[in-house]
Amino acid sequence: MATRKIRKAVIPAAGLGTRFLPATKAVPKELLPIVDIPTIQYIVAEAVAAGVRDVILVCARGKDSIVDHFDIAGELEAHLDRTGKHELRKQMRAIAQMANVVTVRQQEPLGLGHAVLCAKDVVGDEPFLILLGDDVIDAKVPGAKQLADCWERHGLGTIALMEVPPEETHLYGIAAGTPVDGRTMRIDRLVEKPKQDAPSNLAVIGRYVLPPRIFEILEQVKPGVGGEIQLTDALAVLAREDGLLGHRFEGDRYDAGDRVGYLKANIAYALKRPDLAPQLREWLREVTR
Ligand code: G1P
Repeated sequence: MATRKIRKAVIPAAGLGTRFLPATKAVPKELLPIVDIPTIQYIVAEAVAAGVRDVILVCARGKDSIVDHFDIAGELEAHLDRTGKHELRKQMRAIAQMANVVTVRQQEPLGLGHAVLCAKDVVGDEPFLILLGDDVIDAKVPGAKQLADCWERHGLGTIALMEVPPEETHLYGIAAGTPVDGRTMRIDRLVEKPKQDAPSNLAVIGRYVLPPRIFEILEQVKPGVGGEIQLTDALAVLAREDGLLGHRFEGDRYDAGDRVGYLKANIAYALKRPDLAPQLREWLREVTR
């Protein structure tokens, strides 16, 4: 049987964004821009590039403006038309047409695994993508597409991996396994944020293509690190029982959930923009001299 195509993506977006206070007091952190595009729009675009049509946002109270961003803004569009800004109006409409965006609510902050479980009924019985909004990936072939391709080649759940310095392994899920091909391995160990004895320096980055079986496992896992239902713990069970691949994706990754990572992402993306790069580059040269 051919491997089923990925049509649905789950994007957990229920966090409070405390690392970015006061900016996130009234604005969801997912709407903070990288240059002039909200972070979540890059994430949704990446999912769409991997073949996704339906995006399931796992939201919480106070996050409704994320959904407004992907809706038609009638008044704004009429204003742009009246003032002759037709190209901008088209761009605004295109955002509303990127994907079908639906939301489910995570009513209590019980962890990433729990957030994913909240999407169970909407995902149903098919493979799906998970994308974490803090991980921004800049790559020729979008990160999620690289994983979806790997899933299609091998027919097994696939998660994104990246090498990190040994002193940073305590910040990530860490995986170890046996090589399948140049960039892919079969995972046989997976630990969430190891305090010591990390099994490798390969960190899990927030892109996962998973079979629906992960929901059954999530329903069973006990709270792990931080007393939360951890996705990583469920993935360790999936790896043991059904098999799971790790794929070292090609591209640059920014941790937009960290203030320095967020600033780096802004500068890197601005330096790719012909309308902004020359001025910014000149100024950067001056201030870093
Ligand atoms: C989450 C996951 C972790 C993963 C990380 C990637 O942690 O639990 O396994 O390595 O995302 O960004 P968080 O950074 O949300 O605490």
